[in-house]
Amino acid sequence: MNASNPHRTRGATAYIITFLLATIAIALIAALLLNIFERKSEAKNPYIRLVEVDEDSTDPEQWGINWPKQYESYLLTAETTRTRFGGHGGSEALPEEKIDRDPWLKRMFKGYAFSIDYRDRRGHAYMLEDQEQTERLSKPQSGSCLHCHASIMPVYRELGDGDAMAGFEATHKMSYQELNKIVHDMGHGHPVSCVDCHDSATMKLRVTRPGFILGIQALAESDAPLPQMPSIERWRKGSRDQAYDPNRLASRTEMRSFACAQCHVEYYCSSAMPLEFPWSKGLRVEDQEAHWNATTFEDGKRFYDYIHTESGAEILKAQHPEFELWSQGIHSRAGVACADCHMPYQRDGATKVSDHWVRSPLLNVNRACQTCHHVEEKEILARVDAIQDRNFKLLQRGGTALMALLDAIADAKEAGATQAELKEALEFQRKAQWRLDFIAAENSMGFHAPQEAARILGEAADYARQGQVAALKAMATAKESASSTPQR
Ligand code: HEC
Ligand code: HEC
Ligand code: HEC
Ligand code: HEC
Ligand code: HEC
Repeated sequence: MNASNPHRTRGATAYIITFLLATIAIALIAALLLNIFERKSEAKNPYIRLVEVDEDSTDPEQWGINWPKQYESYLLTAETTRTRFGGHGGSEALPEEKIDRDPWLKRMFKGYAFSIDYRDRRGHAYMLEDQEQTERLSKPQSGSCLHCHASIMPVYRELGDGDAMAGFEATHKMSYQELNKIVHDMGHGHPVSCVDCHDSATMKLRVTRPGFILGIQALAESDAPLPQMPSIERWRKGSRDQAYDPNRLASRTEMRSFACAQCHVEYYCSSAMPLEFPWSKGLRVEDQEAHWNATTFEDGKRFYDYIHTESGAEILKAQHPEFELWSQGIHSRAGVACADCHMPYQRDGATKVSDHWVRSPLLNVNRACQTCHHVEEKEILARVDAIQDRNFKLLQRGGTALMALLDAIADAKEAGATQAELKEALEFQRKAQWRLDFIAAENSMGFHAPQEAARILGEAADYARQGQVAALKAMATAKESASSTPQR
């Protein structure tokens, strides 16, 4: 061999260069593969647990050690936020009074604790505190109130000797203060916490609240069409020997709304009966009305939330029916869940993190809406504002119509009309108020289902005016009989 052979030297140099290049290429590929592998396993198993959490771990701080990203965003629910209709204004301990904006609300609620104090909602961090401070508690309230305002499941299990459902059924008879003390004494005085939406062993999304579980079972057993909840439609076609179980049967998309439907729904809560979600006939406003109309108290009387102190009508009070209104809109029909808009994903390396800062999506249009709507942010906001503005104006008209009905009833009474003679007008008041309140108490100002909201408000105004006509007739009759009775 002759090392000085120029051909050979060149050949060797070429060989070495090729070798080096190949080595570098292999190293690069290996690094890339390793990186992909790491990212994949990170995506597959992002949960390296530093501390154990179990079903009794209601303190979110504990969970935050394992899942710092979700915890950090969860803590932001304590921030003050504001949009035209959402969030709240003011920096007091409690948010601004809703009543100042819609003065007719106060007259509509005469006879109900709400006419004492009705405030705008705030972030999740405040749910227990705001409830403990409301002036509505100056009237006795039931322990059922805590179902949606505290991380209460361990308390239900304790009270029911391990059976949460039994514990839940014991709480409506307890006073708010009594149950609130137990919640704090047991160390569970936290607002909605990780364990309320996640299985502590698997982190899978789940529902825990007895009110929701019983309500959704009754809904499944009804014959209301539910194209937006396919797992219920599938269950209905099966043998039905076991009640519908959302935790076993619902799809992930459905669970991304069910988790919120544990609380953001219409309900009845008092010491008279266990907390109830009125879904046995469906989710529409008239289905829920039919449910309440078919409900009776222990004494056999027809159900009502309060007697209107001015007119004497038996009134149904609506509470935040976000889940129900959403269920009637185009987004639910298209499989868009609460979490898609209110907890959108944020990218973090290879993992997607759900934003646990649950708030108005209008503060986060980029991630909440533009993933699906490829339209400028300004245009999206303008579309929402158009919907909300129309809804707000229709709501005010409904309020005006209801006030006219109440005025007519007052005039009729003044002229001597009896409760019996006013029966028709009072029934119209019940129907009109139920619809008006349904949309006033719903928190999206019509956005969750714009056409459905407009239909409901149209009916509300119509019933109020029909009631006004009935009251005017009752007044005419009363005046007539007064003038035909001989004076003594
Ligand atoms: C397509 C997106 C979308 C979906 C899906 C959706 N929402 Fe909303 N939600 C909105 C918008 C937009 C508003 C109006 C926010 C505002 O006025 O600032 C809103 C308002 C709210 C509010 C009041 C927020 C505030 O800041 O005052 C609550 C509570 C709420 N939604 C709960 C729910 C629940 C529960 C579900 C599921 C049953 C749901 N939303 C589904 C878009 C959505
Ligand atoms: C355990 C009951 C409970 C659950 C579960 C729950 N919420 Fe709430 N939510 C509340 C209460 C109570 C408030 C009002 C707190 C206050 O005003 O102090 C609230 C407030 C809100 C607000 C208003 C926030 C603000 O800054 O004004 C939005 C938006 C909201 N919730 C959406 C959701 C969504 C979306 C889900 C499901 C991912 C959900 N909530 C799950 C009880 C619940
Ligand atoms: C089925 C679940 C549920 C039950 C039961 C419940 N709440 Fe709430 N509460 C909510 C949700 C959701 C909100 C936020 C939406 C809103 O304010 O409309 C809220 C908001 C509130 C607020 C802040 C806004 C306001 O209306 O002033 C107070 C105070 C409150 N609740 C008190 C009570 C009291 C008192 C009871 C018992 C009579 C009770 N809650 C029972 C779900 C519930
Ligand atoms: C009101 C219900 C609710 C509460 C309370 C809640 N989460 Fe979540 N969480 C969700 C939803 C909805 C998702 C999305 C799950 C899905 O699509 O499978 C989620 C997803 C997650 C995930 C999976 C990864 C991701 O970000 O999508 C983790 C981890 C998580 N949450 C941790 C927490 C921790 C820690 C807390 C308490 C600090 C918490 N969550 C409180 C509803 C909740
Ligand atoms: C996961 C996808 C998805 C997300 C997220 C989403 N949308 Fe939609 N949106 C749809 C679909 C699907 C429709 C139905 C119309 C269609 O098929 O194009 C729709 C319809 C609408 C409409 C017409 C409503 C009507 O009743 O006719 C408006 C307005 C709208 N979206 C606004 C928003 C806003 C604002 C957000 C964010 C808060 C949002 N969307 C988030 C998918 C989405």
